[in-house]
Amino acid sequence: MKPIYMEMNGHAVNTIVPPPLSPLVIQITPREANRINVVGDMLVREFGSCENPAYISELHLNAFQLLPERIVKILSNFGTDFSAAQYGAIIFKGLIHVDQEDLGPTPSSWQQMDPAKLYRYGFISSLLHGVVPSKPVQYFAQRKGGGLIHAVIPDEKMSYTQTGSGSKTDLFVHTEDAFLFNQADFLSFLFLRNEEGVPSSLYSIRSHGEMNDNLKALFKPIYKCPKDANYALEDFQGEDVTTSVLYGNEARPFIRFDAAEQIYNEQADQSPEAMEHLVNFWEEAQPLIYNDYVPDAGDLIFVNNHLCAHGRNAFLAGFRKENGVMVKCERRMMLRMMSKTSLINIQSVAHTDDPYLIMEEHYGSLFKK
Ligand SMILES: [Fe+2]
Repeated sequence: MKPIYMEMNGHAVNTIVPPPLSPLVIQITPREANRINVVGDMLVREFGSCENPAYISELHLNAFQLLPERIVKILSNFGTDFSAAQYGAIIFKGLIHVDQEDLGPTPSSWQQMDPAKLYRYGFISSLLHGVVPSKPVQYFAQRKGGGLIHAVIPDEKMSYTQTGSGSKTDLFVHTEDAFLFNQADFLSFLFLRNEEGVPSSLYSIRSHGEMNDNLKALFKPIYKCPKDANYALEDFQGEDVTTSVLYGNEARPFIRFDAAEQIYNEQADQSPEAMEHLVNFWEEAQPLIYNDYVPDAGDLIFVNNHLCAHGRNAFLAGFRKENGVMVKCERRMMLRMMSKTSLINIQSVAHTDDPYLIMEEHYGSLFKK
């Protein structure tokens, strides 16, 4: 792997920086966590839900005023750093305190979740997106919108699927909504519960280091990506739009990629050339996947969806291993939020009456409003 030479103040510095292979981990101090919890509860009292227009239209003001300054600085820098050294994900350890008793048992699916239980976490997640700065949005392609914050809960009926509701198969690394041109810019995953001890996977395009021939081939606009398994089978009609996997700066590219849909899904219908490039890339990428992190309740992963893909290992929902024996536990619960840095740039695909709701169905085509 080639070394990377840092540039500082326009001068090349001799320091060799190896490609980043793991996310930045920020340990939140008890004082910071306490502040964040207090702010979350205060906003619930003042606004009810983070979707209250009076709150979300002034999100950035709230975010810069209310979050601890260290976190504001870290996320502001994260929003503008696409350098060779930037992995594209930050793990905030111990961001919040989760009252497990107040949360109660994990519901059987996300549809059964009491939205009121999530309000404080919606405010806290939105503040983090707000300081990037980025605007929380929702996608009709995911749960027909379903609100700005989504509870991701293992659902027995979907346990073998490649979706957030699955559990019994590995969820391959993917950038979120790789089948959309207007996919999220930033993502947050807030863990309320991970008693099963399921590791999260992350993969960064920056882990490859400098560009090589395998990566350059991904700039060709020849790759297909079916809509993901959240859709019913009859919706998998072959749409013939092809696009590149890498885009943006040629030396410091962004990535749009879904291993399950683009490589392993038989309906991906890639050309032989496209499949050959994808397989070559995937062989190089797999050893670079970071899989050493097991989220605790209260941790949050913040992701640049153009630099870093995510996934998780297969697991048996509601069971954890203790001294080699499987014992019952509460099922996993995670809260996802997605955001775009510009509402203006998405209005051609947004709902006429809701500028925060993205109606793109598949590479530029829209759901009927
Ligand atoms: Fe995902």
